[in-house]
Amino acid sequence: MLEEQVLEAQRHDRSSFDCGVPPLNDYLHRLAAQHQKKGISTVRVLVESETPQTILGYYSLSAAHVAHEALPTETRKTLPQYPVPCFRLGRLAVDLRFRGRGLGQVLVGLAVQRCLQARQHVAAFAMLVDAKDTAAQNFYLHYGFTPCVDKSMTLYLPLGRTV
Ligand SMILES: CC(C)(COP(=O)(O)OP(=O)(O)OC[C@H]1O[C@@H](n2cnc3c(N)ncnc32)[C@H](O)[C@@H]1OP(=O)(O)O)[C@@H](O)C(=O)NCCC(=O)NCCS
Repeated sequence: MLEEQVLEAQRHDRSSFDCGVPPLNDYLHRLAAQHQKKGISTVRVLVESETPQTILGYYSLSAAHVAHEALPTETRKTLPQYPVPCFRLGRLAVDLRFRGRGLGQVLVGLAVQRCLQARQHVAAFAMLVDAKDTAAQNFYLHYGFTPCVDKSMTLYLPLGRTV
């Protein structure tokens, strides 16, 4: 069974994770646990319950904001004219061995769920992401993210109205 866990340096085998993108590997191998301790980002990994040390994929989230003018006119005219509070999906990757099985989709869904939970306590308009390349940009477009104005590698997904 798939499980989402908070990254733990002692528990998860970070060094064998390989998503084929060196900066995303390096982040998990060297920085993620430190950033988590320092309150820079929260990092969650996806594992199989039977082999919990093997990281299938991971994502990181942090607080963020986006400039009001970076949002399309139709969206920004409904919002106050100052930086708009958001969450940032800083990094998301699936190990090459486990690609094409829907795990990327699972990770996006889990990240959105976390943002919705966090938003019950701290307001945020959208989840932002900085795509590293056009393949990543296409992946996020596939999930309905909208490119920011004049900065199409930064995309956002509105979290919807609160009740
Ligand atoms: C992008 C990535 C996370 C996708 O992981 P994955 O587990 O292979 O993707 P999934 O199997 O969950 O694919 C889910 C859907 O996304 C689509 N998809 C996957 N990669 C895509 C891409 N680059 N562009 C467009 N659609 C894509 C799949 O076709 C699938 O569509 P469907 O649900 O209609 O069948 C993975 O390729 C990866 O880790 N890449 C390197 C790191 C990276 O680029 N991260 C994102 C930017 S930080």
